[in-house]
Amino acid sequence: MTTLDLIGCSPKFRAVLTDVERIAPVDSAVLIQGETGTGKEVIARAIHEASPRRNQRFVALNCAAIPSALLESELFGHERGAFTGACTQTKGRFQMADGGTLFLDEIGDMPLELQPKLLRALQEREFERLGSTQTVRVNVRVVAATNQDLGQLVSKKLFRADLFYRLNVIPVCLPPLRERVQDIRPLTEFFVAKFAASLNKPIDLIPDEVMTVLQGHDWPGNIRELQNFIERAVLFSPGSVLRLPLGLRQTAPERSDATARTLADADREHILETLEQANWLIGGQDGAANRLGLPRTTLIYKMRKLGIQTRRSLGARPIRQLADEQCHAAANC
Ligand SMILES: Nc1ncnc2c1ncn2[C@@H]1O[C@H](COP(=O)(O)OP(=O)(O)OP(=O)(O)O)[C@@H](O)[C@H]1O
Ligand SMILES: [Mg+2]
Repeated sequence: MTTLDLIGCSPKFRAVLTDVERIAPVDSAVLIQGETGTGKEVIARAIHEASPRRNQRFVALNCAAIPSALLESELFGHERGAFTGACTQTKGRFQMADGGTLFLDEIGDMPLELQPKLLRALQEREFERLGSTQTVRVNVRVVAATNQDLGQLVSKKLFRADLFYRLNVIPVCLPPLRERVQDIRPLTEFFVAKFAASLNKPIDLIPDEVMTVLQGHDWPGNIRELQNFIERAVLFSPGSVLRLPLGLRQTAPERSDATARTLADADREHILETLEQANWLIGGQDGAANRLGLPRTTLIYKMRKLGIQTRRSLGARPIRQLADEQCHAAANC
């Protein structure tokens, strides 16, 4: 992914991009916090690509994916014979990233016993490989990310305070998608164009109703969830108009009382889903009214009341036009 593929034009996302531009030229550690799927790795790469280190390596390590016993060797490398099975001397990720950027993902899962060694590597830019007394010096910029509340882990003594402050020199907070609803349209248009091309399924139209449903969803899995959902929608759309596959409602989490869905919201979703299934046919044997057990006129009355437009009155724009207007945050927003 290039910085040009960073989609989003909401004020919150634009503020993040401004941060990226500001922090890219310096070598200070960055801590990116945000819910799952909000784009933490994408932003870490953007920082690297905008930095003077862009021609050197971007090395990523997911601290949660490596068993604790192996993590030290993964990070700092080992000498031959350092432990059973260590047949050769091996460089760790710190050394691989020399001159470039080391991305430590899921840093909240870094074992406590390894944290002092990481702190020293960050502060002194030096460490020893496992089984060696020889000090290795490196020039690495560290960008860490987590979807946990590191401050809380510190107060529970599950994360060292000194390491937290060392990593948190430049904090970047990625807001969840539900707090940047404005980004849902450009992201949807981007993903539709992307999957239409890769699945060889031309999609010419995203109906406004479909966009309204997408913008009303909570997206607990954030951009990753939206991306996967759009892939499914493109795949299962019968023609060149984007249709929503069933299941969006089931993926929505329980909301708190403060944001409880009203009956009108539930009616609206149910009617939209039935209209989708009925291919937007209102009357007749296979029409939505029949499926809902309502007289046709009652359904039309309810649709008007709930602000649901019929297909004929849809103001949807052709996808090509949408692609032209697409809000490439890095470029135009
Ligand atoms: N601004 C964006 N524009 C386009 N695609 C994006 C954007 N942000 C994220 N994505 C896409 O969403 C998916 C999730 O992004 P990423 O892996 O960076 O999230 P994450 O916060 O690291 O998730 P996790 O916490 O689960 O590791 C990726 O496929 C990425 O390409
Ligand atoms: Mg990630």
